[in-house]
Amino acid sequence: MATGEPCTFVIFGATGNLASLLLLPALYQLDVNGHLPPKLRFVACARREMPREQWLSYLQGVLQERLPEHYRSDAAASFAQRFDYVSGDLHDAAMYQRLLQRLGRVHANCENIIFYLAIKPADFDDVVEHLNRAGINRQRGRHRIVVEKPFGEDIDSARQLNAKLHRYFDEEQIYRIDHFLGKEAVQNLFVFRFANTLIEPIWNRQVIDHVQITVAEAGGIGNRADYYDRAGALRDMVQNHLLQLLAVVAMEPPAQLEADALRDEKVKVLRSIRPIPLDAVDSYAVRGQYVAGNGLPGYCDEPNVPRDSATETFVAAKFYIDNWRWHGVPFYLRTGKRLARQTSFIAIRCRQPPQLLFDGSAGDRIDPNGIILSIQPDEGMRLEIQAKQPGLVLRSRPLSLNASYRTTQVVSMEAYQTLLLDVIEGDRSLFLRFDEVEWSWRVVDPILQYWAKNKDFVHTYPAGTSGPEEANRLFDHKDQAWRNEG
Ligand code: BG6
Repeated sequence: MATGEPCTFVIFGATGNLASLLLLPALYQLDVNGHLPPKLRFVACARREMPREQWLSYLQGVLQERLPEHYRSDAAASFAQRFDYVSGDLHDAAMYQRLLQRLGRVHANCENIIFYLAIKPADFDDVVEHLNRAGINRQRGRHRIVVEKPFGEDIDSARQLNAKLHRYFDEEQIYRIDHFLGKEAVQNLFVFRFANTLIEPIWNRQVIDHVQITVAEAGGIGNRADYYDRAGALRDMVQNHLLQLLAVVAMEPPAQLEADALRDEKVKVLRSIRPIPLDAVDSYAVRGQYVAGNGLPGYCDEPNVPRDSATETFVAAKFYIDNWRWHGVPFYLRTGKRLARQTSFIAIRCRQPPQLLFDGSAGDRIDPNGIILSIQPDEGMRLEIQAKQPGLVLRSRPLSLNASYRTTQVVSMEAYQTLLLDVIEGDRSLFLRFDEVEWSWRVVDPILQYWAKNKDFVHTYPAGTSGPEEANRLFDHKDQAWRNEG
């Protein structure tokens, strides 16, 4: 979009959790740093009845609370001036008539409307139906609709949801968010892989023994029990964020840095993941649930969680990519809540040297080379190599070349800034195309089906530890092990 062109950004669910925690603060940060086009206006929609002035003070309160260090009242007031407010029930046609009037007033004949659905997926259908009935999505121009995960609960529901969106929006108009793709360190992975000639010759089954992807969270489920207990860690994290990380690590170089070229390559990876046979799920995936430990409550003691819930708060899984580059290289993925550390990283482990000429500091073996790509809270890269141990004896010892570039706690909000700017500018590269979503569901569906039928196999781990012991049984070799630090 040309930056001088008018654009209206409609936020459904403007007083909800997602909007107040991430969306509004990220938009404010973009505005303060001069990234928002001058003719961009917002229309906030929410159920709460309030005049515009009250919304404006609500908005400023949200920003002050979320961004105490970056809050400036003059900047917040000028950001607020971009906003209008429409109250009403998402399921009520009258709300859309009010929205229509407001849109006419804000930007008559605006050819660029962004509809951001910061609402629960169960309501997507009604919203698109009402937008269509009110004729809002059919106004001139290429409007866009932004949807958050979860995109369905399994492959069938994802297809149904997609069909509903497609009744009124074309694929190029649909922006499916996976906020991990907006993270600085994940984008750095593209640069690391495709701007360094050093990397390409080693990035394959000849050199790499296995890949580990860990997204470990120290926090629990907060006040999201209603959603989380239905979803569980496999749907919440693996189907989207972790499989996207896997796809970016494993993809071939795209023909161009352009949305469809990038997404074609990711889809090829997802399609090449070996399907997990229903009768062998236990050898490929382990689920866990935290129980009370280290002064923290167990999952079933959290507010609004059923006492007998079998929902997993931890998943470890193994995938094989059956293509020329990766055949035989296991990708071990792991994520969980209430783990010992808050850390996300990708660890690439190389093969052992074919001949051991030197004793290692650990005796008769040496640690094979590794490349660690840290995602958060540290961002950067570490190369683990062997070097001579100083002294008279010719021994090797591990040495790290560290290219960490920062430690930050605000990754999610930054990721949203990147993605929101892309939506405004109409760049779809970091958003999921439906075939990516569909193939990712295909990868996890056998696990979901098997677990739904075998509720007893939920292993437990005390809160504040590194997950159930059973996660160790996934390894192909005895010299493979989870690494707990990035
Ligand atoms: C969300 C999940 O998509 O990602 C949450 O629903 C999870 O359960 C969050 O905590 C992790 O994102 P981040 O950016 O905080 O690592």
